[in-house]
Formats: sequence, structure tokens, C-alpha cells
Amino acid sequence: MSTPTLAILITGSNQGLGFETARHLSKHPHIHLFISGRNPSRVQEAQENITKEEDCKAVIDNVVIDVSDDASIKAGVKEVEAKLNGAALDVLVNNAGVGFDRQIETLGLRTAMEKTYATNVFGVAVISESFLPLLKKSTVGPRIVNVGSGVGSLSLMSKKNWISDNLSFIAYNSSKAALSSITCTLAMKNPDIHVTVLNPGSNATNINNFTGTMDPKDGSMLIVQHALERTGKSPGFYTTGGEDLGWFPQRIPNVNLTIYEKNAGMGGAWYLDRYPELACDIPSHCVRFFVFTDFKIVISLPSKYQLSFEENSALYAPDPEICAYLEGIVDKYKLMQYIRLQHELVHARYDELTAKRHLRPRRPVVHSDPVNSIDYKEIEDMADVLFAGLDGLSRWT
Ligand SMILES: Cc1cc2nc3c(=O)[nH]c(=O)nc-3n(C[C@H](O)[C@H](O)[C@H](O)COP(=O)(O)OP(=O)(O)OC[C@H]3O[C@@H](n4cnc5c(N)ncnc54)[C@H](O)[C@@H]3O)c2cc1C
Ligand SMILES: NC(=O)c1ccc[n+]([C@@H]2O[C@H](COP(=O)([O-])OP(=O)(O)OC[C@H]3O[C@@H](n4cnc5c(N)ncnc54)[C@H](OP(=O)(O)O)[C@@H]3O)[C@@H](O)[C@H]2O)c1
Repeated sequence: MSTPTLAILITGSNQGLGFETARHLSKHPHIHLFISGRNPSRVQEAQENITKEEDCKAVIDNVVIDVSDDASIKAGVKEVEAKLNGAALDVLVNNAGVGFDRQIETLGLRTAMEKTYATNVFGVAVISESFLPLLKKSTVGPRIVNVGSGVGSLSLMSKKNWISDNLSFIAYNSSKAALSSITCTLAMKNPDIHVTVLNPGSNATNINNFTGTMDPKDGSMLIVQHALERTGKSPGFYTTGGEDLGWFPQRIPNVNLTIYEKNAGMGGAWYLDRYPELACDIPSHCVRFFVFTDFKIVISLPSKYQLSFEENSALYAPDPEICAYLEGIVDKYKLMQYIRLQHELVHARYDELTAKRHLRPRRPVVHSDPVNSIDYKEIEDMADVLFAGLDGLSRWT
């Protein structure tokens, strides 16, 4: 067996998403994995089940940690440190989570909230803080991966048409919003540690009485991806489709945005060039925007994954599909309100005195004169920032 180079601890990994994450990670020979949970026999059983799988290649350890209990966390850190034998902990996956909203009638609201927060909020804060010294020893880019939820996004939650079965779960939902906030604070306080919070989607596990729509074998792949490598930004909020734009209502508030496009439609090169059988010459997913959430990860083999796209019929998508995709992005994110079609930028000048960009786009004006039916009218505009998204083939006229 090769020497492990990545030490990963997953809280609450004796069942559900945590267990499936551990199972996927166990196929990698370079990993030293700590399966963890609050119940010693369940943790032991999970370790045995993973270790006996034929293709288990990682070094598997276990540690009992109840994240709602400071003494248990302290003992757990000591045990992990001893088992690491001088090595660092590279990745902490804060996966343990509970929900008590269905028991509010019997427990009372305050107790239900306290019990939920003890694990989902206080637990994450304390265990992260406690493992910082071991994480900071890492030389491979330490990270904290928090398993959050779509209900942890205030932006998504405040959307009238956002559909979730558990919108009324006041304790659970607010605990996941607090987790998003903890993610930001941990990232700001520890710039050397990459901190993300994930929305694994609705998975059939114990926490929701197995009513979720996804198999946790699949939902856990997002956690696996973030555990295996530094993915995205820190702090960052991610779903299976990439960055979740629902973290903040507007990523840059109060921007007055105008997009000048010289063509009469969207799609750039793909809009202009329409000859038969035109298709991209690289796999479709390379011409898609990873920032948007509408591509999905398809699991092919336990330890490998490939990207695939629902809408594309072919690996090398034909031009009409690429155009439809680009137009779909404009529709979906309501970008048309910012776009001025048939506006070609013909002049741009920076004025040092005012620190402004002076711009001159031109647009066609139709004349009644049939010989010279199209003319152009130039207009003046001003901007603080100018992003030039012209393709390499375009020239200033
Ligand atoms: C026929 C063809 C096939 C191609 N196939 C592939 C492929 O298979 N794989 C691949 O990776 N690449 C391919 N390319 C390269 C292609 O350019 C890129 O895939 C991609 O479209 C480039 O994106 P872009 O945003 O940089 O440029 P564009 O998509 O060209 O977008 C630039 C936009 O800027 C606008 N613009 C330019 N000047 C001005 C101005 N002065 N004022 C206002 N608006 C302006 C243009 O109208 C256009 O909409 C192909 C290009 C062509 C022409
Ligand atoms: N399932 C979904 O649809 C979904 C969606 C979004 C987010 N999530 C999040 O995903 C994470 C995993 O949940 P899951 O769906 O896999 O549910 P699960 O099957 O119930 O697993 C939760 C795990 O957390 C452990 N745990 C609970 N309290 C703990 C504590 N105080 N200390 C240590 N471990 C503790 C549980 O241990 P025991 O076995 O001892 O109970 C269990 O192993 C949670 O954070 C959850 O909020 C789930």
C-alpha cells in the first residue's frame, strides 16, 4: 500500500451522506480516512463495512466524536493527532447534522432549536476551531468542507417560487443559514484554509425519514469532489451544478450594468456562423459556463466521474444547441434587461481627470432611401469600468 498523503476526517460518517462520502474516498490509495460519529458501535460497524469492500484502498481509522460535546471533541482531536503520528489533518468534512423540527410539538420550540444548533451550528464552530492547529500543519492546501443545504441560502429561501418540502423547518433551516455564515467567517479568519459550504441536494437518508429524491451514493459525490481537491472559491457555496448563485441576492450590489452587443442576437461566434453541420470541436461541457448550475455530474464508476449535459445530444454539440444554450442562459438569468443588441462599440477613451471611460456605441438607423437603407447613429455613454469581451477576430472599426 502506498503512503497516505491526504488525511480526511468526516464527522457523522457512520450512515447517510457521510458514510457514502467515506465509501467513495476509501477507493483512493493515497488517503488516510477518519470515519467518525457519536455512537462507538455504529462507527466501528461503518469502518468494518468500508474496510471489507474489495476495492477499499485507503487507510481507514475511526474516532468517536460527538460534535455537540466539548469534552468529546477535545478527546477526539487528541486521538486523531496521535493516530496521525506527526502528520497533518488535510481535510475536515463537517457533515454531522440533525433535524428536530418534526418534534417541536413534543420538545417545545426552544429545546428543538437548542438541540439542532448544538450539532449543526455550535458543533461545526467548535470542532473547526479545535482542529485548526492540525489543519494548519497541512502542506497540501488544508480545507474545511461544510455540508450545508439550499435552505442555508437566504436568497433562495426568500424567493417566492422556490420549492422545498421543508420550508417551514425553522430550527433546521436557520441552523444551515448560520452554517453559511460560519463558513464565511472561518474563511476570512483563516485565509490559508479553503472553506466551502455545500448543498448536496435532497437525499434519501435518516434525517428526512428517507424521503429525499436522490440516492446518497450520488449526492455524496459533491462532498467527495470538495474533499479530494480545493474546488472553487473560499468562502464559496456550491451545489452539484457548480456555484450556487443563491448565496447572495446580487454578488456585486448596486451595479449599473450595460452590455453592448453589435449583433442582432446573442451567441457571438455561434450566432453569426450558421453553416450546416457546424459543431464545436471540443467536448460540449467545455463550451458551457461552469458558474451556472445547469449541468449535472453523472456518476460512471465509483472512483471516477464525468461531466454530461442534459440538453446536449452529442459530445460535440451542434451549433443550434450551443445557440439555444446561450440564449437559455440569457433568459434564465434575465440578462436581456442589460443587453443593447445592435450596438457596436466604436470608440472608448479613458479620461484621467474624471476617472471615467467615455464610450461611443453606434446603432443602425433605417432610412427610407432604398439605395443607402442602413446608416449608423453614434451615442455617448460613460462607465467606471469597461470589460472588453470582444472575440479575437473582431477589430475596432
Ligand atoms: C465557425 C466557428 C467555429 C468555432 N468552433 C469552436 C470550437 O469548436 N471550439 C472552441 O473552443 N472554439 C471555437 N470557436 C472559437 C469561438 O470564437 C469560441 O468558441 C467562443 O465563441 C469565443 O467566445 P468569445 O466570447 O470570446 O467570443 P464571441 O462568441 O465571438 O463573442 C464576442 C462578442 O462580442 C461582440 N463584439 C465584437 N466586437 C464588438 C464591438 N465593437 N461592440 C460590441 N460588440 C462587439 C460580437 O458580436 C460577439 O457577440 C469557433 C469560432 C467560429 C467562428
Ligand atoms: N439528506 C438530505 O437531503 C440533506 C440535504 C441537505 C443537507 N443535508 C445535510 O447532510 C448532512 C448529513 O445528513 P444525512 O442526510 O446523511 O443524515 P443522516 O443519515 O441522519 O446522517 C447524519 C449523521 O450525523 C451524525 N450525527 C448527528 N448528530 C451528531 C453529533 N452530535 N455528533 C456526531 N455525529 C452526529 C449521525 O449519527 P447517528 O447515526 O449516531 O445518528 C449520522 O451519522 C447533515 O449535515 C444534513 O443536514 C442532508
